Amino acid sequence: MTRCSAPGKMILLGEHAVVFGKPALALAIDLRIYSEVVPSQQYSVNWHPMKKRHHAYISAALDEAWGGPPINVDTESEIPSGSGLGSSAAVTVSCVAAMLARKGKLDAEKVARMAFEVENTVQGRASPTDTSTSCHGFGVLVAPEKTDGFLWRIEKDKRQWNIHHCDVPKLTFVVGYTGIHAATGPLVAKVKKLVDDKDEARKAVDRIGEIVLEGVNATRSADKRRLGSLMNENHQLLRELGVSHPMLEKLVEACATKSYGAKLTGAGGGGSMIALTDEPKEVSAAIAAAGGEPIQIEVGCEGARVEKNSRGFKRPGEEPAQDLED
Ligand code: PMV
Repeated sequence: MTRCSAPGKMILLGEHAVVFGKPALALAIDLRIYSEVVPSQQYSVNWHPMKKRHHAYISAALDEAWGGPPINVDTESEIPSGSGLGSSAAVTVSCVAAMLARKGKLDAEKVARMAFEVENTVQGRASPTDTSTSCHGFGVLVAPEKTDGFLWRIEKDKRQWNIHHCDVPKLTFVVGYTGIHAATGPLVAKVKKLVDDKDEARKAVDRIGEIVLEGVNATRSADKRRLGSLMNENHQLLRELGVSHPMLEKLVEACATKSYGAKLTGAGGGGSMIALTDEPKEVSAAIAAAGGEPIQIEVGCEGARVEKNSRGFKRPGEEPAQDLED
């Protein structure tokens, strides 16, 4: 029995533009997915026969990372699915990690590379942002150029990304979940079409890239005013790229007076927004009053890890779980 877990993430700045090779900054959050691998008579998920279409990420993870005899993959999630908080990346990373851990020694870069291939296969087009953040934890900057905190580099279909570790200061975010599930693949395809057809969309993508680099400095120095204003601008550009939703607009608007900045996070079209604030209770109340579900999260959390107790979540007072090797 081998059990691994991986955190969800929130994209602080740069979603969608990153698919075009621009930078993005994402933070690991304290909601995790736990995946456990055990020998079985047939390939199954939570003891139900595995179906490629229904278990797209787990089945692609098997193809990428396993190649062994039948196993059952048990998963438990703390992340609302389709919320834009990285549940598909966390399930992929935790499964790949559990499969590799069962076969031998773990290596975080290998897990992150394989998990990216899985997401790219399932979504049709992806960036390594979600999977590398879920794998490495804390903050991850994905960028076309190498800079401080460089971890590794990946190329795909003429695009290239350098993956960097980023320290995350104490910042308070509240998530507002719209309750609306939107698949990432079609939204990514929609933005690609817009960028192929329209100059303004191309310019929006370029500007988002600049915002991210400015945002990295604001994050490192915990300059909340600057970071908030960059989040607001990033949100406007995402709206221009057609990935907002009336409910996201409502929640972003509801947080305006009590936060430094707010924006959608992840693919959009529903999912979630985030607000940077010093008044989390007030912002949560505003989100709830506007019809959203507020989720209090901690950012800058640990990445993928092997869980020592292979049944049940780690309880307070138990020995800490073992880290993945970097
Ligand atoms: O749907 P999410 O939260 O996994 O976010 C997707 C982020 C995109 O930039 C839209 C796609 C990607 O692969 O980076």
